[in-house]
Amino acid sequence: MMKQRRNDKTHHQEGTDFLQMMMDASIEEGKDNNNDDGQTVKHSVRHLSTDEIVAQCILFFVAGYETTGTALTFISYNLAMNPDVQEKAYGEIKEILGNEEPNYDNIGKLKYLDNVISETLRLYPPGYVLDRCVSETTQIKGLTFSKGQTILIPVMAIHRNPQLYDDPDSFKPERFEDQDKTIAFQSFGFGPRACIGMRLALVELKVALVNVLRAVKFDRTPDTPEVLTFAQNPNFLQTDKDIILKVSPRC
Ligand code: HEM
Repeated sequence: MMKQRRNDKTHHQEGTDFLQMMMDASIEEGKDNNNDDGQTVKHSVRHLSTDEIVAQCILFFVAGYETTGTALTFISYNLAMNPDVQEKAYGEIKEILGNEEPNYDNIGKLKYLDNVISETLRLYPPGYVLDRCVSETTQIKGLTFSKGQTILIPVMAIHRNPQLYDDPDSFKPERFEDQDKTIAFQSFGFGPRACIGMRLALVELKVALVNVLRAVKFDRTPDTPEVLTFAQNPNFLQTDKDIILKVSPRC
């Protein structure tokens, strides 16, 4: 796409998408400056190389699609395993949206669906371990973190800590009712490097779930695992066996 856009300027639609913004960021805009000795020096501007642009595009596919797809898998599983929750979520959609198409404004009213998503992301966070690089040597509660060290944040273990969550292994969407999320909820990370796509992800998940739950019902089968077990060291949380569910039309 980059080659095509560079060769065929007539199709160039400036600033209309992510790829174009990165390609524009790679254009050298530097001016020549005079230094103290009166010599002209080329003012160099840091720009994105082709490899960096490709890397960012791959990150966007991985961070943006795999995570949301993984979340939908675990939500479908939880709904199949908890039929009362599924009916309550479906009932909320019927009551609040009626036959309206889901959109940015009306999905905000689906509070119970939001709790189902949060509770699933708590039990099964697609990004189950996060990392940070220590920028300055620092001490916290007697532990030294040295500059340059990488530290791992065990998100899944934090989410299952009984000191932070009552009955942590149970699926209880109600626990998020009227409760602001604290640093004990790290499914989208925390701080300045938290997930930049969180809002989009929540919109995508809700629109997908409204459409799916209106059309079909998820049920467990004899092959559906009672307790999920996980693959070793995947990039995103992944079960070691397929999750098999029965999907039947609602009407
Ligand atoms: C359910 C869906 C998603 C989950 C669970 C998720 C989770 C995460 C997590 C845990 C991080 C690391 C945060 C940290 O280290 O503090 C992250 C970073 C990121 N996410 Fe997401 N994400 C999701 C969807 C998306 C979507 C839809 C996009 C883009 C369209 C996206 C783009 C990114 C990017 C670019 C980063 C890196 C941010 C940075 O380093 O500054 N994510 N995400």
